Amino acid sequence: MRDLKGKRTLITGGAAGIGRNIAERLVPEGAELVLVDLNEAALNETLAAIHSLGGEVSGYCLDLTDTDSIFRLRDRIHAQLGPIDVLVNNAGVVFGGGFLDVPFEKHVRTYRVNVEGMVAMTYAFLPDLLAGPEGHLVNIASAAGFIGLPWGTTYSSSKWAVIGFSESLRLELEMTKHDSVKVTTICPSYVSTGLFEGARPPRTTSMLAPEQLAQQIVDGIKRDELYVLTPWLVRVTPMLKGVLPTRLFDMIAWTLGATSSMAQWRGTDKDIAV
Ligand SMILES: NC(=O)c1ccc[n+]([C@@H]2O[C@H](COP(=O)([O-])OP(=O)(O)OC[C@H]3O[C@@H](n4cnc5c(N)ncnc54)[C@H](O)[C@@H]3O)[C@@H](O)[C@H]2O)c1
Repeated sequence: MRDLKGKRTLITGGAAGIGRNIAERLVPEGAELVLVDLNEAALNETLAAIHSLGGEVSGYCLDLTDTDSIFRLRDRIHAQLGPIDVLVNNAGVVFGGGFLDVPFEKHVRTYRVNVEGMVAMTYAFLPDLLAGPEGHLVNIASAAGFIGLPWGTTYSSSKWAVIGFSESLRLELEMTKHDSVKVTTICPSYVSTGLFEGARPPRTTSMLAPEQLAQQIVDGIKRDELYVLTPWLVRVTPMLKGVLPTRLFDMIAWTLGATSSMAQWRGTDKDIAV
């Protein structure tokens, strides 16, 4: 989608972190923004900030784990604004720690936000994207969707699901000649939003700045890129994993500190206490 001017763009988790940064970067592009988030206070603050940048923006408070309310939200947005052109499935949660040390409800919530929420949002809004002259679906996965991540088992596996879902849907759209809708999958390593406080980026890499990643995401949409993989280590990971024997790949990942990166995670459970 070369020109985002006037494109109604819905971003989940748009009140903070990467989502907010994407929204801010879409203001100069002239996109009409629709931000959806669980955190009402942060949402209101972000709406005010986007207004002060001169952006056209609406906000809706919603918990993505409540799938019925996702379909009600679609009806509200249609009635108040009309159909959307771009859907950015960005909201996500992580509850780090040893598999048995993390309460079961938190593992389940990880899948409900990161996977079920993303699938339901896509199910609700893909018809909008298909009905327009061009549409774009952006799914924020993670570098953790390419590797096993100790102390982040359900987070990592939820992001494997995001990558598999995005790739399958992209191919289905292409094979059924619905390729006016493009799909871009975003796989960053650690980003300094606070979600992964305490986690250590693998050696040779550093925490990404959300502003920089958001610009790469906007550029990725405008160039119809299939993937945004950043930093460089993420670009070579799928290839290395595909060709190296598992034990050798494990050793390299351990040496680089990728598989121990979550051992000291102390990010906050920002969404709700479960
Ligand atoms: N921060 C990183 O290091 C990193 C790395 C790779 C991928 N990602 C992914 O990027 C996305 C954004 O992460 P971030 O770092 O900006 O996180 P963040 O915590 O800074 O922002 C996430 C936003 O999503 C909202 N949210 C959480 N649960 C929700 C729910 N149930 N319903 C509606 N909104 C909800 C939060 O209120 C928050 O505003 C996530 O999918 C995350 O997995 C982050």
